[in-house]
Amino acid sequence: MALARARSTFVCQNCGAVSSRWQGKCDACGEWNSLVEEITSSGVGAGPGLRKSRKGRVVALAPLAGDTEEAPRVVSGIGEFDRVTGGGIVRGSALLVGGDPGIGKSTLLLQAAGALARRGHRIVYISGEEAIAQVRLRAARLGLADSPVLLAAETSVEDILATLEVGPSPTLVIADSIQTLWTDAADSAPGTVTQVRASAQALIRYAKQSGAAVVFVGHVTKDGQIAGPRVVEHMVDGVLYFEGEGGHHFRILRAVKNRFGPTDEIGVFEMTGGGLREVPNPSELFLGERNAATPGAAVFAGMEGTRPLLVEIQALVAPTTLGTPRRAVIGWDQSRLAMVLAVLEAHCRVRLGDCDVYLNVAGGLRIGEPAADLAVAAALVSSRLGAPLPADTVYFGEVSLSGAIRPVSHATARLKEAQKLGFPKAVLPATVPDGQAGDPEMRGIGQLVELVARIAASARSQPSED
Ligand code: TYD
Ligand code: MG
Repeated sequence: MALARARSTFVCQNCGAVSSRWQGKCDACGEWNSLVEEITSSGVGAGPGLRKSRKGRVVALAPLAGDTEEAPRVVSGIGEFDRVTGGGIVRGSALLVGGDPGIGKSTLLLQAAGALARRGHRIVYISGEEAIAQVRLRAARLGLADSPVLLAAETSVEDILATLEVGPSPTLVIADSIQTLWTDAADSAPGTVTQVRASAQALIRYAKQSGAAVVFVGHVTKDGQIAGPRVVEHMVDGVLYFEGEGGHHFRILRAVKNRFGPTDEIGVFEMTGGGLREVPNPSELFLGERNAATPGAAVFAGMEGTRPLLVEIQALVAPTTLGTPRRAVIGWDQSRLAMVLAVLEAHCRVRLGDCDVYLNVAGGLRIGEPAADLAVAAALVSSRLGAPLPADTVYFGEVSLSGAIRPVSHATARLKEAQKLGFPKAVLPATVPDGQAGDPEMRGIGQLVELVARIAASARSQPSED
């Protein structure tokens, strides 16, 4: 009998690409120093050449039309969590919850597990990182000690699967974290891409067969990628990121992939001494410490998924002492800021070339919408001219390179949220929605220069600071 020769391959821990020799840089994703040697003699990662060929089985082909049923969902009752999953976790599906270490993933999932178990579901929580006593301590802190969640501290996939076979099939299995799991089917060390992929595969197969939903927890490296588990993103039905800025108490759960629901929904939580608390009205949180009298602050009426969200944009424009002025952004896109600055210089004659520019989205939120352009421009001009913006006004609209203000979606929802929170006035694209056109509180503008002129006029009408 010939022994299978141990072969080593080099697997990129960032994207999972396999190479036959070591390289400093991964050819597939361009990441440096990400290739790690993994020994693969057989099993997963050994390649098709080593497998015995077998005659395929005939599968039945089905038409597109036919009986369909709505995917059955498991609702936790934690509203912000259910919203992000698209109305509850789908039975038999696999979900990845990613985030920085310490952000609160285990807390979130233990709370979800506790809530589901209280509703009569069979929930299994497998902790590969913490001992049972640690999880119990946390549960006590969260007020969940009486919840019938089933706990195991285990990392072997084979043992986990054998355990799950006993008794009725659970509604939900939580694997915290995917990086700690390992399976006999792969030869590489725990934590490597090959192990993570093989372990996830085994549990996803279990989910499809048993109808239990599986949630993987994955730690993210500081460049924002899930190390190793990034390959898992392609295998699961949904990917949720749990985010938050250091020093801030609130956390945002964001769906970046969802086979069974929308991907732009967010759930907002606050980390308290007793675990995560839902924040059903995030605008109030993001506007919490607002000081309307200072120049450089503009309230943006934004949208996150189907939900309007008011958030303060803060700008500081100050004369520079550097040869190349500084442009620093937190919570917004750097190149988008460069564009707004260029448009202000070129079309509105606002001089910024000799100024440092700092831009911050209050509360640590990250905004991806181009609709924030107008609020950013308002904050920048307000700071540059030392003129506070009116305290009762919100801003939204996309700025084009020509300086024109382009319409954005969901204008009505944005305005409704603004009115609800005490902002009756708005500066918005000239093409305002029906019924709003005649409203004197709505200032529709066609060109960015109109906004600059308004702020400049208000600067002249108030006493100068210096
Ligand atoms: P954790 O859920 O362990 O993070 P992760 O699983 O993403 O690594 O959360 C750890 C942090 O949360 C820790 O710094 C303490 C804090 N925390 C609270 O502030 N309140 C609580 O009730 C709990 C359980 C944790
Ligand atoms: Mg954890």
